[in-house]
Amino acid sequence: MHQDMEKILISAAEIKEKIDELGRAISRDYSGKYPLVVGILKGASVFMADLIRAMSIDVQIDFMAVSSYGASSKSTGVVRILKDLEQNIEGRHVLIVEDIVDTGLTLNYLLEILKARGPASVRVCTLLDKPSRREINVPVDYNGFSIPDEFVVGYGLDYREKYRNLPEIYVLKKGVYKGR
Ligand code: IMP
Repeated sequence: MHQDMEKILISAAEIKEKIDELGRAISRDYSGKYPLVVGILKGASVFMADLIRAMSIDVQIDFMAVSSYGASSKSTGVVRILKDLEQNIEGRHVLIVEDIVDTGLTLNYLLEILKARGPASVRVCTLLDKPSRREINVPVDYNGFSIPDEFVVGYGLDYREKYRNLPEIYVLKKGVYKGR
């Protein structure tokens, strides 16, 4: 195990099994439609790549980048669009793909922006959910795993831009990660 990690929380095999399940559910729910699947950079990039390959329907993909945290891990509620969509989403079925919903502030802001553009529907798929940290109620339509209030990294998730490449999800050692 990587020296900065306290423990493994979710194994690569568990992630794969869950993504296959999510891909099947999404394919069933969007059957006959051509959704625009929107990955939120950078955290959701690894999940997005695996999730779309678990879908059996035709999809279009796009990406958005927002910043809410800067270099620190504290949520401020201030969200900035760093990269916007290339696609016009008017009349489209949009599926937002997130790595983790924590306070919900990022997602709440994203949903407001995207709904204002007149999509046919907007749903949310997140790999991880930390319900105990929620500050604002946001609808999560597809959730991989609900996890306790611990700072996690790996499989796309970072601490100060590191650890995104780890294939599993880990709890970071307290000494590495200095509070929120
Ligand atoms: P929220 O606005 O508080 O819901 O934060 C959402 C974003 O915060 C996620 O997309 C992540 O980028 C980041 N984040 C929240 N919790 C964690 C964590 O445990 N590890 C890594 N990133 C996290």
